[in-house]
Amino acid sequence: MQVRSDFDKTHSGPALRARRSALFVPGDKPRAQVKAGELGADVLIFDLEDAVAPAAKAEARQAAPGAFKQWRAPGCDSELVLRLNACGEAEFSADAQLAAEIAPDVVLLAKVNGPAALSEAREGLDAAGYHGPVWAMIESPQAVLNLRLITEMTRTARLSGLVAGTNDLSAALRCRLENEDRDPLIPHLAQILLAARSAGLVALDGVYNVFSDLAGFQVQAREARRMGFDGKTLIHPAQVEPANRAFSPTPAEIKRARIIVAAFDDPANAGKGAIASEGGMIERLHLAPARAVLAAAGAAS
Ligand code: COA
Ligand code: MG
Repeated sequence: MQVRSDFDKTHSGPALRARRSALFVPGDKPRAQVKAGELGADVLIFDLEDAVAPAAKAEARQAAPGAFKQWRAPGCDSELVLRLNACGEAEFSADAQLAAEIAPDVVLLAKVNGPAALSEAREGLDAAGYHGPVWAMIESPQAVLNLRLITEMTRTARLSGLVAGTNDLSAALRCRLENEDRDPLIPHLAQILLAARSAGLVALDGVYNVFSDLAGFQVQAREARRMGFDGKTLIHPAQVEPANRAFSPTPAEIKRARIIVAAFDDPANAGKGAIASEGGMIERLHLAPARAVLAAAGAAS
């Protein structure tokens, strides 16, 4: 029962905690690990998977406890995530042991192609002694097709987020992307977002590879936010601040949210469901999102 109630606490919180910037930190790059704690990223993902060459996997596992210890020191408020090699890979059981030892806030599961992969990974983690929440990388055509079955396991697998793995997904689809233009991926990103929202999960967009192109990054981050993503996964320190900015409420959104809250606070509107405002209609259903915008603005300032 302990496990279930811990999950409920995390699971009821996705909208409350900011996940605008989620930086991948390679498990085999000690300098990057030191730097990561000082960057103001909402989420740090210590990576044992794609960022680490096969020969460096064991070394990365050895470095992880030290990195987490640093990131847990005062001054770093990031949510701490450990990405494991995919369940089915030889590395998975050692990675799962490490997760039990470190107890990260979240374990990120690579290549969750369907419900069987998710339940197998959950069993492996439970057996190793990690009972916390997991996020799933959605990064194959099978995974996109299986989104409904994957999110049906939200409670049993203690799944609390979906992360778009756009590099693996676009390679498998053979789609042609050009820097910030990723139109061919949008239908699949929309399905990931839809599945996440249908199940109350965190939704994170994929990475932008051209880390020297911050203008292109902005275009993608803005697009992801308009779609509804909570934040973007990142590969480089230079992307943290632009991501935090892109996924924070804009001045216009804050102004609009204040108008909505004030309108429903006005005693003259007591009991009304719909109110005319600035030539348009606002409904009571807009009140909670407006309050969320103001809360996020407060947290971001
Ligand atoms: N997290 C934290 N710090 C990082 C970082 C990261 N992801 N990427 C780079 N840095 C640090 C570097 O260590 C360097 O700091 P230092 O001078 O103190 O050593 C500084 O930021 C500048 O790095 P830079 O020289 O611009 O980049 P690079 O050429 O060393 O590395 C990449 C470029 C892309 C190889 C590197 O950013 C990286 O490995 N990113 C993560 C890749 C990844 O995780 N992929 C899997 C998920 S898709
Ligand atoms: Mg990958």
